Amino acid sequence: MMKFEGSHILSVSQFDRDAISRILEISSLMAPYAMRKKRCTVLDGAILNNLFFEPSTRTRVSFGAAFNLLGGFVRETVGEENSSLSKGESLFDTARVISGYSDVIAMRHPKMHSVEEFSKGSSVPVINGGDGANEHPTQALLDLFTIKSEMAPFNKNLDNLNITLMGDLKHGRTVHSLSKLLSLYKNVKVTMISPDALQMPDGVISTLTNAGHEVIQTDKIEGNLACDVIYQTRIQQERFASKDEADLYRGHFSLNKETYLQYCKENTVIMHPLPRDSRPDANELDNDLNDLDNLAIFRQAQNGVLVRMALFALTLGVENNLTKFEKPVTWHTAK
Ligand code: CP
Repeated sequence: MMKFEGSHILSVSQFDRDAISRILEISSLMAPYAMRKKRCTVLDGAILNNLFFEPSTRTRVSFGAAFNLLGGFVRETVGEENSSLSKGESLFDTARVISGYSDVIAMRHPKMHSVEEFSKGSSVPVINGGDGANEHPTQALLDLFTIKSEMAPFNKNLDNLNITLMGDLKHGRTVHSLSKLLSLYKNVKVTMISPDALQMPDGVISTLTNAGHEVIQTDKIEGNLACDVIYQTRIQQERFASKDEADLYRGHFSLNKETYLQYCKENTVIMHPLPRDSRPDANELDNDLNDLDNLAIFRQAQNGVLVRMALFALTLGVENNLTKFEKPVTWHTAK
């Protein structure tokens, strides 16, 4: 079994099936705390430094909320312009300094492999919140948690999954990380719908095919959405040379209720890492899907809190002490 305590979480390649099962098991234990049925102060006094050098809503806030929900304190740096990286300080020096102020660090940065570079200077665990177009391991874990829970009512699990990934598969780091994790399961069929220029990188495809999985690459929606899960992605404009180049692909694979009813199965679950681009020229996931039970996007985002709580508990070595630090909730909660 992988040793979590004191480890950096940089890539999904670190995990085997047992490690993932452990993370998902601990994530489930976090539900009463996240749902405010009980409090847990197992990380009372601990400090998370949240370093986000690229925009984020879900990842940054849910890392912070997850740490607070375990009783810890959160310090944040948002935007490179607010850090001495903008004065030429190296990632290594920044890590040496910030890790002296922290028990754990979560970091997002626009450059591929930057979080790994940063981790070399850190004396505390570093968790990758997204490094350019490379990886987003905590998103992939929350995606797996979501697929597992969404499939459970249909007596399905991660083995024998039929999933369609759609959109910007070249730059979408969430689909890179998720595909690598899916390669660990059995008999997975992955259909990849994208424009030719935005196809999944070869290395990710070979991770799946080398594990014996079926991969179909296509630029057609028709006939390719009758799956268990459709995982839609946004055109990652920030990874293109210009907005004009991104505009060439925006809106190619929009999913709305009409398309869903025409091409998907009755119970196809819709996922998206979010943010979805709801501007009319993109509209990759139409608001008319919002009333469908099978739209899992907000449950998926909520699951991020559970998975990030689990990663903090595991990397700080307190996952077996949760119940010892429980307290009642003393205020009105809407959950
Ligand atoms: N899914 C995700 O990474 O969202 P944010 O960019 O808002 O963090």
